[in-house]
Amino acid sequence: MNLQRAFQRVYNVLLNSNVNTVAPVCGYTVRLKHTKEEINEHRAKVMAKGLPEKKPLPGVKSIILVASGKGGVGKTTTAVNLACAMKVIEPDKEIGLLDADVFGPSVPLMMNISGEPMLNDDNLIEPLLNYGVKCMSMGLLVSGENAVVWRGLMVMQALERLTRHVAWGPLDCLVVDTPPGTGDTHLSLAQNLPIDGAVVVTTPQSAALQVTKRGVNMFEKLKVPIVGMVENMSHAICSSCGTKNFVFGTDTQLTADQMGLEIIQSFEVDQNMSECINSGKPAIYALPDSTHAEKYRQLANKVFKYIENKENERAKAKE
Ligand SMILES: Nc1ncnc2c1ncn2[C@@H]1O[C@H](COP(=O)(O)OP(=O)(O)O)[C@@H](O)[C@H]1O
Ligand SMILES: [Mg+2]
Repeated sequence: MNLQRAFQRVYNVLLNSNVNTVAPVCGYTVRLKHTKEEINEHRAKVMAKGLPEKKPLPGVKSIILVASGKGGVGKTTTAVNLACAMKVIEPDKEIGLLDADVFGPSVPLMMNISGEPMLNDDNLIEPLLNYGVKCMSMGLLVSGENAVVWRGLMVMQALERLTRHVAWGPLDCLVVDTPPGTGDTHLSLAQNLPIDGAVVVTTPQSAALQVTKRGVNMFEKLKVPIVGMVENMSHAICSSCGTKNFVFGTDTQLTADQMGLEIIQSFEVDQNMSECINSGKPAIYALPDSTHAEKYRQLANKVFKYIENKENERAKAKE
């Protein structure tokens, strides 16, 4: 019998005996068995490590995520117009916009902000201000065309910098634009920040709706409530005859029903809107009389109402 088999035999015999600890082997005391209580205690300790405490951002009253499973569905367009519309309908409120898409930040382009942010006396980064909205993005901290490969821990560190190292306060609401998918960014944000709700953006294609479902399931698991669904690019209107063309399908309502969610706003495809946002002047400012601008103001109103309800619920829970 070789040595390894001999050891295995002794180990098996000890496992089936009442012997709990084997006295020093090469200077180490080997534990063979643990009681149920010890195992549960160990599990609780590991779990506690895995779920960091959700510390509020100093001076920030509420946080709303804008998310979706798929890229290119209009998350950033929605986040930018929503943040600006919130400022337009409640000018006395302080609104912030955090670009948490560290892989492909597009808030600087869409909000027309550039230049290196400054550090204040407390060593915090001062957000840049445009259209009355305080903005911060990784695109302002790493130079323009440098592709950055962010992975796991690096993403968390980048987010830590964009959240806790920025002088956000005072803010009534921080709108957070997120990257596509259900990855490290969403996990990290949901585990570290007290998020009041997520606005889920989708287009009507079945591929987009499927990924949206996955996103909604992820938020359920992370205990992030959903404010509602925003359907983007619902249909296109023919410029010559005015016919509605449902080029991407019509399944959004069905998906929303299946998930028990409300469609809180719906936007058609609009070339003007795209041109505005891509030239750094969101439709809410560039085309204030357009249907889209009006719909963004309605969306902003719904988000304010949602936040107010959450605040009331919190106050009641404290009583
Ligand atoms: N309703 C819309 N009509 C026309 N173009 C739109 C609409 N919504 C978004 N876009 C355009 O689609 C592109 C992708 O939008 P973006 O907001 O960057 O998507 P995401 O952040 O989900 O990747 C942008 O060029 C934007 O201008
Ligand atoms: Mg985006």
